[in-house]
Amino acid sequence: MEKIKVEICLGTACFVMGGADLQDLSDIIPLKFGEKVEVLGNTCLDLCSTEYGKAPFVKVNDFIIEKATKDKVIAKINEILSTQEK
Ligand code: FES
Repeated sequence: MEKIKVEICLGTACFVMGGADLQDLSDIIPLKFGEKVEVLGNTCLDLCSTEYGKAPFVKVNDFIIEKATKDKVIAKINEILSTQEK
């Protein structure tokens, strides 16, 4: 099974729009999902210039989560895992 890739935007726009809170995900995700999920930081996902109002952004595989929260990211991971396990 391929690892799910989570990219948390750590750029300024996302940080000020609530992204600071998302940094906890790099601790939470490995505890919750172990080796199934890889967490990476990205300095800018290049969405803030056009979609600033929807920041912060997190990318889960190819899916962009707008106005990302920890709950939204975890829900998306669970959704992908449930489809992989079928
Ligand atoms: S700072 Fe997050 S997309 Fe640019």
